[in-house]
Amino acid sequence: MTSTDAPPSAHPSTAADLLAPHPLRDRVAVVTGGGTGLGLEISRGLAALGSHVWIASRSVEHHRGFLDECAARGWKGQARVLDVREPASVGALAREVEAQHGRCDILVNNAAGNFVCPSERLSERAWRAVLGIVLDGSFYCSREFGRVMIGHGGGQILNVLATYAWTGMPGVLHSACAKAGVLAMTRTLAVEWARHGIRVNAIAPGPFDSDGARANLWPDAEHERRLRERIPLQRFAGTREVAAQCLWLLSPGSSYVNGECVTIDGGASLGQGMWDAGTAIRRRRDADPEQP
Ligand code: HXC
Ligand code: NAP
Repeated sequence: MTSTDAPPSAHPSTAADLLAPHPLRDRVAVVTGGGTGLGLEISRGLAALGSHVWIASRSVEHHRGFLDECAARGWKGQARVLDVREPASVGALAREVEAQHGRCDILVNNAAGNFVCPSERLSERAWRAVLGIVLDGSFYCSREFGRVMIGHGGGQILNVLATYAWTGMPGVLHSACAKAGVLAMTRTLAVEWARHGIRVNAIAPGPFDSDGARANLWPDAEHERRLRERIPLQRFAGTREVAAQCLWLLSPGSSYVNGECVTIDGGASLGQGMWDAGTAIRRRRDADPEQP
């Protein structure tokens, strides 16, 4: 019998099966800062794929758009007011999600605070504000939702970093240190919790346009233009193209990826070399006939 005679069900599965059409249907997901910017696009993407998505952040106003869209499109979504710096509140949310669904499959640590300030002028409260949201908040959420995942057969955690966690960037000492800490958290929990069926990964986007970034990072169009020109692809990422990589990292298509950080920055964090791309470089002897 040739392979074409075999009934379709007898064919061995292929890698395409891991890219199934509904890879995230009926997953229970929590996205911190899920009402704005990148977090909103991750939440919309998960909900569109059939997950039940809880968004959690400080401001009720930031929740309305997602909840309205859920109602209009028949998506499953809920929102809770949460400051990720408060461990008791994070624990209460984890218990609420567990009580409602009996599990939590996905946590996205996306919430962040940031602003540009010369390090020598950074006050203790300013340092604490950013470290508290990014580093402490990611720890509290990972611990509380991690406990739920450990108790119910596993899950996935995705942390949102920034490439300056390892490249450095002037003016964002607090955020760079916090994101570097979350990178260490990603790798540590990946090796510690793999035995519980929990994968922990991260993404590191380059700059993309969001209300938060525009308000806190690039104050005007001229700064934004200069930033954009330094990116090899010559443009910012769209939040949807960054969110698409998150969906892949959370799907069975990446089932053996653990402890990894995927950079999504249009090449911005790579070395820019000694000259601009496209510069015509002549051999020295062609430029100067006296040269040997
Ligand atoms: C200097 C500042 C400051 C600024 C606040 N502070 N903004 N210092 N420059 N621009 C100081 C305050 O003066 C105060 O210190 C301390 O920080 C705490 O301020 P609060 O307003 O009380 O803090 P809080 O209410 O907790 O607000 C958190 C916040 C705020 C981080 C300060 O910016 C915020 O809520 N941000 C959320 C949205 C956001 O930042 N999105 C950007 C994500 S983009 P003193 O000593 O005066 O009391 C990103 C990566 C971009 O993260 C990567 C690009 C490549
Ligand atoms: P954003 O829209 O300002 O998102 C930040 C979110 O965090 C908001 O929804 C905010 O909601 C929430 N948040 C802040 N403090 C919180 C707290 N204490 N508790 C709970 N939630 C809190 O900015 P964004 O640009 O989309 O950023 C999303 C992620 O991408 C962040 O991790 C950021 O560091 C990262 N990133 C961004 C860029 C960029 O260029 N934009 C580049 C690299 C990485 P509330 O105000 O309602 O609390």
